[in-house]
Amino acid sequence: MSTSTPTTPTKKRSRWDAEDDDDEPPVQASSKRRAKSKQAKSETPPVQTPASTSTPPPVRPEPIRPTHSVYVPPRTLHPALTPSRSVYCYERLNAIEEGSYGVVFRARDKQTGEIVALKKLKLDEEKHGFPITALREINALMTCKHENVVNIREVVVGDTLTQVFIVMDFIEHDLKTLLTVMPSPFLQSEIKTLMLQLLSAVAHCHERWILHRDLKTSNLLMNNRGTIKVADFGLARRYGDPIGVGGLTQLVVTLWYRAPEILLGAITYSTAVDMWSVGCIFAELILKEPLFQAKGEIELLSMIFKLLGPPTAASWPNFQTLPLAKTITLPPQQPPQLRQKFPYLTSAGLDLLSRLLTYDPENRISATEALQHPYFNESPYPKHPDLFGSFPSAAAGEKRRKPFDSPSAPVRAADHKLLTDFDDV
Ligand SMILES: Nc1ncnc2c1ncn2[C@@H]1O[C@H](COP(=O)(O)OP(=O)(O)OP(=O)(O)O)[C@@H](O)[C@H]1O
Ligand SMILES: [Mg+2]
Repeated sequence: MSTSTPTTPTKKRSRWDAEDDDDEPPVQASSKRRAKSKQAKSETPPVQTPASTSTPPPVRPEPIRPTHSVYVPPRTLHPALTPSRSVYCYERLNAIEEGSYGVVFRARDKQTGEIVALKKLKLDEEKHGFPITALREINALMTCKHENVVNIREVVVGDTLTQVFIVMDFIEHDLKTLLTVMPSPFLQSEIKTLMLQLLSAVAHCHERWILHRDLKTSNLLMNNRGTIKVADFGLARRYGDPIGVGGLTQLVVTLWYRAPEILLGAITYSTAVDMWSVGCIFAELILKEPLFQAKGEIELLSMIFKLLGPPTAASWPNFQTLPLAKTITLPPQQPPQLRQKFPYLTSAGLDLLSRLLTYDPENRISATEALQHPYFNESPYPKHPDLFGSFPSAAAGEKRRKPFDSPSAPVRAADHKLLTDFDDV
């Protein structure tokens, strides 16, 4: 074998996402090697074994194969597993965003010319195999296919096992960026449409036993036809699965959107955590800025207590049983300030908001119930998505945008967990 051919591709050529323009796949030394060995094999003369010269053994009758049970689905329902395609099937266009867990690129499918988004999963430092959180993200996206959930097209691989990309439809905007660049806030009719879409996506995920656990405006994408797509299932997990001894992780949901039961250390929580985040998003769409811009958990709790009035035995019967409830001193009772904060919202709108921002998770409105709320049936009615204005897409620009001025998603504590673990500590 020639020593000049590298056995592994050089770093520069192997990185699809590196900052150079060379997006052709490196020459695979292994395929050459395989070709060579094949040639060598075919050149070898057939070995004459003593058996080949003697008389052949008598032919045994074929054993009768048992027919399959009628319950076994036909082969056509089990398409063969095929290897993932290469990232080099895509031409890299620009980096959209570098988030906590990966970089997102805009790219073009070389075969079809379609524009897509590629999210590179951060696996470089992974020492314990493919992280369960990455599998959960892929699995949740595939489980929750819906008009208002970003469409996963495929998973592609780079040159090494640490280069895995999720290929999604490219969506022009995220709501966080849009809210900061829009000259005026969304109209009530537009907010209703956006909320209906968000709620139907969340209801769909919850029906499929998936908690998103990181709903926030930067994870809500919107195309130029007024359609919202819930994205970033990086913290998603199935609920109803067996839970480990330590309970569910409390390091979920970006601080400003985090439900009070998680802040108070609840070891089990459910779909209601997503509904609290939906309440924060609803408020943000109206205010054009995040509702609770707290620097830490204590400040966040006191902001919540101020807006809603501190919890009482009536409003949150299980409050005292929460692990951290004893460690905080509740402020004196004061009336909620929700009405003052949202003076122009109709009483139906305010009712929906307060049902989403309800302390007791047992009492918090579900996505399915919220979809039926009278707020959506009163004037002004939800605007047809086609009538939404379009905006220039920051994500399609050639320049990388500045990171957001908001807290990032919690660090994934579960990355080191192996696939055999059921729990989520
Ligand atoms: N399909 C897409 N089309 C266009 N832009 C996208 C797409 N997916 C993600 N983005 C952009 O990339 C950003 C980061 O993506 P995502 O939230 O999935 O990654 P992340 O690393 O988990 O981010 P973070 O930790 O900041 O939430 C999004 O806020 C959005 O601006
Ligand atoms: Mg995100």
